[in-house]
Amino acid sequence: RSIKSLATSPSSHILRRGYASEAVPDRKVAVLGAAGGIGQPLALLMKLNPLVSSLALYDIANTPGVAADVSHINTRSVVSGYSGEAELGKALEGADVVIIPAGVPRKPGMTRDDLFNINAGIVKGLCQAIAKYCPHVSIEILLKQALVNMISNPVNSTVPIAAEVFKKAGTYDPKRLFGVTTLDVVRAKTFYAGKAKVPVAEVNVPVVGGHAGITILPLFSQATPKANLSDAEITALTKRTQDGGTEVVEAKAGKGSATLSMAYAGAIFADACLKGLNGAPDVVECSYVQSTITELPFFASKVRLGKNGVEEVLGLGPLSDYEKEGLEKLKPELQSSIEKGIKFANQ
Ligand code: NAI
Repeated sequence: RSIKSLATSPSSHILRRGYASEAVPDRKVAVLGAAGGIGQPLALLMKLNPLVSSLALYDIANTPGVAADVSHINTRSVVSGYSGEAELGKALEGADVVIIPAGVPRKPGMTRDDLFNINAGIVKGLCQAIAKYCPHVSIEILLKQALVNMISNPVNSTVPIAAEVFKKAGTYDPKRLFGVTTLDVVRAKTFYAGKAKVPVAEVNVPVVGGHAGITILPLFSQATPKANLSDAEITALTKRTQDGGTEVVEAKAGKGSATLSMAYAGAIFADACLKGLNGAPDVVECSYVQSTITELPFFASKVRLGKNGVEEVLGLGPLSDYEKEGLEKLKPELQSSIEKGIKFANQ
């Protein structure tokens, strides 16, 4: 048929939609731990993301049901479910972004570090599989591994574990490994907006350091829109951001930790990674990455995302005296969590 007849045929709107989606590159996202409390709503949110063309959902059990359910949603991505270790390779093959919310969550009275013994082993195994299945030869004939978004706690240690596993496998690229700290930013924004009485959609607050207790350092002195909060209010906001996870753990009273807000935060961060890969300009999010902005080898700060993952780790900017003090206080704890992860990975 001629172009004219195509354009006027009843199916022309479908064709036009076809052209529109062709402008967006194909991107495969894999979620490891997809049947869990975070995994399920995260799978839903990734299914709603028009930048995703293929969504692979992996868990040790129960993934077929989640995948069948999510697959009926009429959005772009094609969903596939993988269950059990024998199918992990297929889930990972060709992935551009791998999101890891696999592992056990906290119960009341537990710290994130209490999860170490179980989750460290889970993360180590999954990262060995990523190193094996994910590198694919790109146009530049360089081996490029997927961008890894680590959600499993303790993030302060699981990211160094992942780095060590990738180093051993010869696939480590520090630009492609991210600890997801977005929930700290999400909480800081919500709590700040409430206290400062400003519209939450306009709020920006960097959160730096790590992702546990006092290692979480929100920089309210840099928060916008500006508000005249007292020192006592800033201290209370800082503490609430640091204890946000525990607030949810206690409210859930033994039924786990944050899942819905975490899925939201994970979806925001993965979306930023995809936008960066697709070449969108000025994509900046806070993340826990290999870093030289302090003496610690891993540190969360604002990061510019691009076609290769991390384009630039941005500096801390001016800190208040209270924040400077918080920064010095968090360093020993973060350092020891990093060392613990490295030691575990090399055992
Ligand atoms: P959950 O127990 O509801 O789900 C975890 C899922 O992981 C389960 O479906 C389980 O079958 C799966 N799983 C276990 N071992 C696996 C393996 N080897 N491979 C693939 N899947 C595996 O837990 P939830 O609430 O979803 O939390 C998951 C993790 O996320 C925990 O480590 C938790 O501490 C962490 N988390 C991180 C946050 C962050 O801000 N980075 C916030 C909240 C939780």
